[in-house]
Amino acid sequence: MSQSTMQHPSGHGMRGYSRDMPYFTAMFVICIYAAAALAAPTGSRQITLDDPLNPYPTKPRITFRGDGTFKITVFADLHYGENPWDAWGPEQDVNSTILMKLVLAEEQPDYVVLNGDLITGENTFKQNSTRLIDEIVAPLNEVRIPFSSTHGNHDNEPNITHLEEIRREQLVAPLSYTRTAPPGIGGEEGPGTYWVPVYEHETDVVPALILWFFDSRGGYSPGKNSTPVPDWVDESVAGWIEQQTTLMDAAWGPADTTRGALAFVHIPPHAIQAMQPGLNSTRDPGLNADLLGQGSTQATTDPSNIGKDQPFYDALTKYVKNLHAVVSGHDHGDEWCVREPTKNIIFCFSKHSGYGGYSDAGWGHGIRNIVFSSPSPTDGLESWIRMEDGETHARVILDADYN
Ligand SMILES: *[C@@H]1O[C@H](CO)[C@@H](O)[C@H](O)[C@H]1NC(C)=O
Ligand SMILES: *[C@@H]1O[C@H](CO)[C@@H](O)[C@H](O)[C@H]1NC(C)=O
Ligand SMILES: *[C@@H]1O[C@H](CO)[C@@H](O)[C@H](O)[C@H]1NC(C)=O
Ligand SMILES: *[C@@H]1O[C@H](CO)[C@@H](O)[C@H](O)[C@H]1NC(C)=O
Repeated sequence: MSQSTMQHPSGHGMRGYSRDMPYFTAMFVICIYAAAALAAPTGSRQITLDDPLNPYPTKPRITFRGDGTFKITVFADLHYGENPWDAWGPEQDVNSTILMKLVLAEEQPDYVVLNGDLITGENTFKQNSTRLIDEIVAPLNEVRIPFSSTHGNHDNEPNITHLEEIRREQLVAPLSYTRTAPPGIGGEEGPGTYWVPVYEHETDVVPALILWFFDSRGGYSPGKNSTPVPDWVDESVAGWIEQQTTLMDAAWGPADTTRGALAFVHIPPHAIQAMQPGLNSTRDPGLNADLLGQGSTQATTDPSNIGKDQPFYDALTKYVKNLHAVVSGHDHGDEWCVREPTKNIIFCFSKHSGYGGYSDAGWGHGIRNIVFSSPSPTDGLESWIRMEDGETHARVILDADYN
């Protein structure tokens, strides 16, 4: 337990302090005033009160680097836990862990996103399925990089749920920023909807960037009489986005001028499916080998469900300002970004990272990097795919000029 100021020595962009209970919150504030009074004329650092909306008062604040950049590395579709009864299953996970360790050491991100399908839940056992979370977060714990997760259709199965994965991650990963939505938000088996503030400086009251995470559900309900779970972001999330952005505007001022945003959701919004036939491999580079709408895709198994994520998509694109991109996983053979014209927002696939999960010749394994060049809410981002062996491709600048 630590209530003290916590400085991170390695420049990972993680600065701040940790407080564990309201009593200490009060003590901490009193101490700040005392310290400010004592530090007086030589103290150059502006000390401010905490952001009143900060959902993480006990965790280090996530900040841009001193040079104004901020780097996110996205691991998607890790698919741990396949066929534990065969040698190749556990071997895949050993390989995925090797990949994670290598990438983390070489990329040195400020934040990591695990973009869904962490686990192949249909192969797991009731009594120990969340132990796979321990394996997945071990490389992140080791290098002390803050991170959070979205969850996918394979994370909801008879022996595992999104909620169980989230609770386990919160228990075993001190730098997990994954949260659950308030009761009533997210729909059946879709609790993993939340946002994470990123500050320019550790003492800022107003964040410069909000990372949004949405639960696109899917898979199967837990237990013996398991039934399919809807595979799109529930309509209740639309009202929650409006409510949260209203609170943010009241506390921090208008979003247009103060903060940027980036969103992560495992299954692509339905509107993205219509973009695939018009892709241009020069303008929208990256592997395009996986046809959207096949297999477990949102709302396509039952035509009457098509477009049921429209309330979510409408609210996201209406209320979240300076939304740089929406980033999904799910389709292992796709890496491209595209501008979706009905809402004029950029969408990007992540990159299949895990040795588990379906694949095909030449797809390989890698990650997506996303680098903010500055904390300015309207500056563009640079993003590219990095393969396990270090090869990079599909580099794009995600800004107003992008396609
Ligand atoms: C693990 O990685 C090695 C080296 O890339 C590869 O040869 C092997 O087939 C992989 N094993 C599995 C089970 O994926
Ligand atoms: C779930 O776990 C139970 C108990 O470990 C096991 O018998 C069963 O095969 C597992 N898988 C499914 C799909 O129920
Ligand atoms: C869970 O238990 C099963 C059955 O004993 C075993 O094969 C599997 O390796 C265990 N998985 C984990 C992640 O501990
Ligand atoms: C594809 O995009 C490139 C670069 O923007 C452009 O020069 C080319 O004309 C486009 N091709 C087609 C078929 O639209």
